[in-house]
Amino acid sequence: MFAIALDGPAGAGKSTVARLTAEKLNMHYVDTGAIYRTLGLALYRLGVDLEDEKAVEAALPSLDVAIRYQNDVQHMTVNGEDLTKQIRTQEVGTMASVTAVYGCVRDKLLSCQRTLAEQYEVIMDGRDIGTVVLPDAELKIYLTADVKERAKRRFLELEAKNPGTNSLEEIEKQVRERDERDMNRAIAPLRKADDAVEVDTTHMTADEAAQKIVELAVQRKNAG
Ligand code: DC
Repeated sequence: MFAIALDGPAGAGKSTVARLTAEKLNMHYVDTGAIYRTLGLALYRLGVDLEDEKAVEAALPSLDVAIRYQNDVQHMTVNGEDLTKQIRTQEVGTMASVTAVYGCVRDKLLSCQRTLAEQYEVIMDGRDIGTVVLPDAELKIYLTADVKERAKRRFLELEAKNPGTNSLEEIEKQVRERDERDMNRAIAPLRKADDAVEVDTTHMTADEAAQKIVELAVQRKNAG
């Protein structure tokens, strides 16, 4: 099955670009960050200390994380409860990043990601898709952008939802901390796969980035 792996740091535009690309190529978009966010939030709600790996590991069997698609929109559930809306905050992003360092968490979430890529032609975004989840993906993209630009994008996104409640400085700090944690963890750190094409979106619109990926995908498909 043809697959595109799309990795990169927080705020590089992965989800918007992946969604646009999926539409243009009629592929299935899988947001793996949402899977980590869902598990992070579920653990937090259980009162588990997220810094305590043993406590996290002990809680995992009680949590059934599932993905389903409704009108082509990815919905995330835990033990049947839909958490799709609740996971889209900066705080839940941090919960995901903190718990994503544990091997037990990554192991639990690996098979559902691979199963989706066996069922559909996917464009899958995350941190370790090209390096670990789909190492044989036909096309790998490493999407990046300057950290200040990424913080500004997150700020505007959050301000659009709750005007006047966000600080650009604070968001930049959180983005830097998240980069640091995601890139320096021992297991499946964020890094560009050797065979990935780097796309820097600092001065690009999401549509331009998607168009570039579409061109690359068409070339790969024709070559294969
Ligand atoms: O892409 P995002 O902001 O929704 O991801 C939230 C966190 O989840 C991210 O900071 C690290 C973790 N994550 C991961 O470790 N591996 C993935 N494939 C996707 C996300």
